[in-house]
Amino acid sequence: MRLVLKLGGSLLYNKDNQIIITRIKEYAKVIAQLAIDGHDIAIVVGGGKPARAFISAARELGASEAQCDWLGIKTSRLNAELLCASLQRHAYPKIVESLDELEIAAYSNHIVLMGGLTPGQSTNAVAALAAEITHADLLLNATNVDGVYDKDPNDPGAIKLDDVSIENLEIILSGGGTRAGEYRLFDPVAIRVVKRSKIGTVIFNGLNPSNISKIVAGEKIGTMISHKTSSMEE
Ligand code: UTP
Repeated sequence: MRLVLKLGGSLLYNKDNQIIITRIKEYAKVIAQLAIDGHDIAIVVGGGKPARAFISAARELGASEAQCDWLGIKTSRLNAELLCASLQRHAYPKIVESLDELEIAAYSNHIVLMGGLTPGQSTNAVAALAAEITHADLLLNATNVDGVYDKDPNDPGAIKLDDVSIENLEIILSGGGTRAGEYRLFDPVAIRVVKRSKIGTVIFNGLNPSNISKIVAGEKIGTMISHKTSSMEE
């Protein structure tokens, strides 16, 4: 299978803002095994806490939103470097910085790593675009909650959904922030791309890296985003 994995930056840092080295190692082990098993993999790593720290400091210092976004992009690329180091010979040695570069790297027989690409979006949009351009079979979105909830997962009574249509996801996530560092689970670009190309997407809890291999093996974990099939396709 051709896979794109989005790794939320929040998964890589503990509450004291320190890098969780053991988790990066666990991810590298699981992902390297999938590559050994013959899967083609591209990984997009998010910015996490350091991105938010740089963005809020820069904003206070008078930076524009685009400058703040660039700080998020650069931080996400640094996070991608960590996973790249841990994947060693399995990884394409350069963090990919454009979709053109991705098209070439995707055929290198190595695991490709990316962070952000361009201001005005989140790394979820990058992952959706990466899945679209590489014709991925599955977009795996590892986050720090169990999947998509019918409302804010911190609200008491929020229910985790096993499946959600892309249209419903759009409604659930409407009203998310549009400033640097504030994009929600799926920003509008990510939704649009997943919708137009009907990309099979699973949003799941990445605190347990082995969830990735379970999903690839067909286990139902997290929330699956479903797409309408037109009568022409049936
Ligand atoms: P993300 O918000 O995507 O990081 O990128 P994240 O850590 O994955 O987020 P969570 O933890 O899963 O919620 C960090 C910031 O980098 C900028 C945005 O400001 C974003 O909020 N960014 C990222 C861009 O401007 N363009 C990109 O293509 C990617």
